[in-house]
Amino acid sequence: MPYDQHETPYLDAVLRYRATGYTPFHTPGHKLGKGAPAGLRELLGDACLQVDVAMAGGVEDTRESTHLIRLAEDYAAEAWGSDRCWFLVNGSTSGIHALVLTLCGPGDEVIIPRNAHKSMLAGLIFSGAMPVYLEPEVDPLWGIPLTVSTEAAHLALADHPAAKAIFVTSPTYNGLGSDLAAVAAAAHAAGVPFVIDQAWGPHLRFCPELPVDAMTAGADAAVVSTHKLISGITQTSVLMARGERINLARLDSMVAMTQSTSPQVLMYASIDAARRQMATRGAELWRGALEQAAWARDELNKLPGVRCLGEEDLSRHGVASFDPTRLTISSFDLGHSGYELETVLRDDYHIAVEAADPLNVVLNVTYGDAHADIEQLVAAFRDYADRCAGQAGGGSAVCPGLLAHSPAFTRQVLSPREAFFAPSMSLPLAECAARVSAEMVTPYPPGIPVLGPGEAISDEIIAYLQEGAKAGLKVHGPEDRTLRSLRVVA
Ligand SMILES: Cc1ncc(COP(=O)(O)O)c(C=O)c1O
Repeated sequence: MPYDQHETPYLDAVLRYRATGYTPFHTPGHKLGKGAPAGLRELLGDACLQVDVAMAGGVEDTRESTHLIRLAEDYAAEAWGSDRCWFLVNGSTSGIHALVLTLCGPGDEVIIPRNAHKSMLAGLIFSGAMPVYLEPEVDPLWGIPLTVSTEAAHLALADHPAAKAIFVTSPTYNGLGSDLAAVAAAAHAAGVPFVIDQAWGPHLRFCPELPVDAMTAGADAAVVSTHKLISGITQTSVLMARGERINLARLDSMVAMTQSTSPQVLMYASIDAARRQMATRGAELWRGALEQAAWARDELNKLPGVRCLGEEDLSRHGVASFDPTRLTISSFDLGHSGYELETVLRDDYHIAVEAADPLNVVLNVTYGDAHADIEQLVAAFRDYADRCAGQAGGGSAVCPGLLAHSPAFTRQVLSPREAFFAPSMSLPLAECAARVSAEMVTPYPPGIPVLGPGEAISDEIIAYLQEGAKAGLKVHGPEDRTLRSLRVVA
């Protein structure tokens, strides 16, 4: 049943609700703004407060009804090319939790990228599944993880025939993509469901000049963060799945388990509106963004000491596609870390970036950027490069040498869940050899864990962390970020 993608059933219902002026004897306590504190009213305005209701609350025809949300999800399923869609109000994070809980239980193997988003680890802790890692290479120049290669996926599927699913993150944070169709074919030949964490690809399906999207490539399920690169408001995402290899009824229950029972109607309405915008105008809007990003990349690459990650990185092993609207920019050659660059851009040029790491800053270009915004960005870098001219090269806060010998994965002794719930203790790093880690340790760069809960700690890992601590490597995950100690299973 083809839907008219110009329609927005949920958004319209929310607008209608505001016009009806029901007297609310339901949540929230501010009663459509009438009792709202002044500061909140100033922040949100009456227009927002008057539709600040939890899901049904009068938007559906009764408190128990959900047919409107299901209808809006069906429009989205058609737009993204899946059998079923769910609107999520706790981000792709909750979609990943629901998928892991649907696909694997205690002791089951699941193939995942080593640098999977941390929601994946939480999913493993919830479910009790055992990870089998796909290890992406690291680009030593940029300090970023590359993508999972098809060969690695083939090997993991062959070595772990009982695996319940294979997950791949694509595009990565920096916009790099795996050969999704090839991984889908390998997974399906092995009878294993293929899931794509496409949090950074809600737009891909709607513009042919962008890399291929999950459902076109043959994925059985995917999550996309509608709040990241398209117009869903913050925290909104969409989970999509096909029924051939995934039990949609079970997934439906898991989605219910991982969402709030009081979802915000504004969130749903914004997904509905974002879907219409993409389905009806996505190609044209993203072509504009691609032009802007191409212009910015060219201009930035002309500046001495400034580099912007580009198509040439496609040639690196395992990288099959690239989303050029993600700008990864390094001024390492001018002597600044990504963190310093972020501060300079914010304080001196009024520019806020998406993220910074020790080597780079990452910026998103979308259809929301006017050309003047892109010109402001380029002008800022031009000025900054002039100011830095003559300074010695070699960034101040990084140790690219460390990236070249990242320690090998050792052994998963306990499942992440077993390690998480096991009695644990903190030990000096030097005394941790042959112990089992109770925590995750992820150095930045490159954002790939060297230890996860349940993994054996090797001498090599200890030496790497000791060297990293001396070199000022930033680590996420451990209780003691100075790395003088680690939490191990007692
Ligand atoms: C690759 C990836 N997956 C999942 C997520 C979680 O997405 P959300 O913030 O929508 O929960 C993120 C968040 O940054 C991410 O980068």
